[in-house]
Amino acid sequence: MKVTIVTGGTRGIGRSIVEKLAQEGWVVYFCARNREKISDLEGILEEYKVKGYVCDVRNWEEVDSFVDKVLKAEGKIDLLVNNAGIGVRGEIDEISLDDWHSVIETNLTGVFHFIKKVAPYMKERRKGMIINIGSLASKNVFPGGSVYCASKFGLLGLSEAAMLDLRPYGIKVATVLPGSVATDFFRSGGDQSWKIRPQDIAEAVWYIVNSSDRALPSRIEIRPLQIKS
Ligand SMILES: NC(=O)c1ccc[n+]([C@@H]2O[C@H](COP(=O)([O-])OP(=O)(O)OC[C@H]3O[C@@H](n4cnc5c(N)ncnc54)[C@H](OP(=O)(O)O)[C@@H]3O)[C@@H](O)[C@H]2O)c1
Repeated sequence: MKVTIVTGGTRGIGRSIVEKLAQEGWVVYFCARNREKISDLEGILEEYKVKGYVCDVRNWEEVDSFVDKVLKAEGKIDLLVNNAGIGVRGEIDEISLDDWHSVIETNLTGVFHFIKKVAPYMKERRKGMIINIGSLASKNVFPGGSVYCASKFGLLGLSEAAMLDLRPYGIKVATVLPGSVATDFFRSGGDQSWKIRPQDIAEAVWYIVNSSDRALPSRIEIRPLQIKS
């Protein structure tokens, strides 16, 4: 059976990816910070092979131990999905130091932690896939987006350079860049009917997973079809 790790799996896009891969028969390990939400999702998906752990992607020791548990149980990781992310909006001089560090450490350093830990095992097998959830804010800036855009521009650079490093070992690294998705992210609220559904991002992940052995779809951008009225 195929084995995956999905970070930030309890809500929104990550949860849809967990559900999709579980329904397709994968063994799915996911993490988040809130233990209760992890148990809730394990309960909802109990008919599948799904297990969650508390792991803050910002913390190297927690990442190291989480991945070791998966390797001990399964002996391999076929797919790593780096999805966990947070957003903070504010004009550049209003961003607190704490918010700056939290966003950069979650959206950028957290992804580095997981790739650093998982890549050597994938290199050894000379196969594997890493899918990083970026954002259209990895390419486009918006007012109040300085810290979020910095983290997501950085993530795209990290992801695409890692793609070049790992490609010679048969490892695919891809970045998915969604526009606005209907989740609780940015505490957006209001009418979300025009936005992309989290399931649509899970379908993009599934497309990459099923790409042929000879092809590497390294970057996918997804926009809402409707324009916000
Ligand atoms: N929603 C959008 O419009 C949109 C658009 C483009 C890109 N994205 C990207 O898509 C990803 C997921 O977004 P979403 O909208 O699904 O967000 P969400 O609904 O807020 O879910 C975020 C998930 O990440 C987990 N998480 C947050 N910080 C974490 C940490 N330090 N360690 C481990 N887990 C952590 C959360 O659980 P805990 O809080 O329990 O840790 C939760 O499971 C993010 O990378 C985001 O930047 C979102």
